Amino acid sequence: MTQESVSPDSDPVGVTTPNTARVWDYQLGGKDNFAIDRQVADQINSAMREMGVPDGHVVGAENRAFLHRAVTYLAAEAGVSQFLDLGAGLPTMANTHHIAQRVNPQARVVYVDLDPVVSVHANALLAEDARALPVRADLRDPDQVLGNPVVRDFLDFDKPIAVMCIALLHCLADEEDPFGVVRRFRDAVAPGSYLAVSQLTTEDHPKEAARLHQLSLDVGMSTPLVPRPRAAIERFFDGFKLVEPGLAFINEWRPSEVDVEVGEAQRAGARWFLAGVGRKD
Ligand SMILES: C[S@@+](CC[C@H](N)C(=O)[O-])C[C@H]1O[C@@H](n2cnc3c(N)ncnc32)[C@H](O)[C@@H]1O
Repeated sequence: MTQESVSPDSDPVGVTTPNTARVWDYQLGGKDNFAIDRQVADQINSAMREMGVPDGHVVGAENRAFLHRAVTYLAAEAGVSQFLDLGAGLPTMANTHHIAQRVNPQARVVYVDLDPVVSVHANALLAEDARALPVRADLRDPDQVLGNPVVRDFLDFDKPIAVMCIALLHCLADEEDPFGVVRRFRDAVAPGSYLAVSQLTTEDHPKEAARLHQLSLDVGMSTPLVPRPRAAIERFFDGFKLVEPGLAFINEWRPSEVDVEVGEAQRAGARWFLAGVGRKD
C-alpha cells in the first residue's frame, strides 16, 4: 500500500541538491545517496572533526541505537502497537516495523517523509507488508497526514499511537513552527499515546552547534540543521509526561548491554543529541 499527499511537482529536489534524507543515509553507511550528498556529508564531517567533536557517522549510529531502544520499550514495556514514524528517512536494515514486530507481530507502522527518493524506496520495500504504510507528506502541514483517509483507516486514533520524531525536528526552523507541528499530533492522538524525540542540541558545545547550523545553510542542504537548547527540546513534550530517565543525552536513555560496549568516540557522539520519550495522560 502507498499513499501520496505531496504532488511530485511540488518538490524540486534533484541530484544536484544536497538532500537531508540522502546525506543522513550516507552517515548511516547506506548506499542510497548521490555524489553531491557524499560531498556535503564529508564536508560536514571534516568540519566536525576539526572542531574536535565526533562526526556524523558516529552521531547517526547513536540515533539508530536510540530508535531501537525506544521502539523496543514502547512495544514491549508500554504495550503500544501503532507507530507514526515522522521523517522516517530511507529504509535501512532495522526499521521501526522490524523492531516493533519482533515484539508484537501485529504492530502497525506508518512511515512519513517528504523526500521523493525515500518515497520510491519505501514504496518498493513495504509493498508486500500489509502492516507498514509509507506516506509522502510535508509535516509542516500536519493535515497532510492527519487528514489523510488512508492513514485514518490504517491506524486507530482512538487507541494509543507512538509518534516518533527521530532526528527530525532539527530539520524544521523555528519559523516553520516545529512546536505547533508536534502539538497538532499530540492533540490528534488518544490518551496513553507516546512521543519519542531525538534532536540536535546546543547543550554541550554551543559554539560548534552554531557552526554546524551555519554550515548546513552554506552548503545549501534541502533542510537546515537547527540545534536547540535543552529547554526548547523539553517544550516538544508539553502535554506529555517524560518517562525515566527524562530528557537525556541520547546514549544515556535506557542504555542496553550492547550500547554499553561502544567506544569512547561513540559515547562522546551522544552529546550532540538529547532524546526522550513522553506519555500523554
Ligand atoms: C536526519 S533524517 C532522520 C531519518 C530517520 N528518522 C532516522 O532516524 O534515521 C530526517 C528526515 O526527515 C525528513 N524531513 C525533513 N523535513 C521534513 C518535512 N517537512 N516533512 C516530512 N519529512 C521531512 C527528511 O527527508 C529526512 O528523511
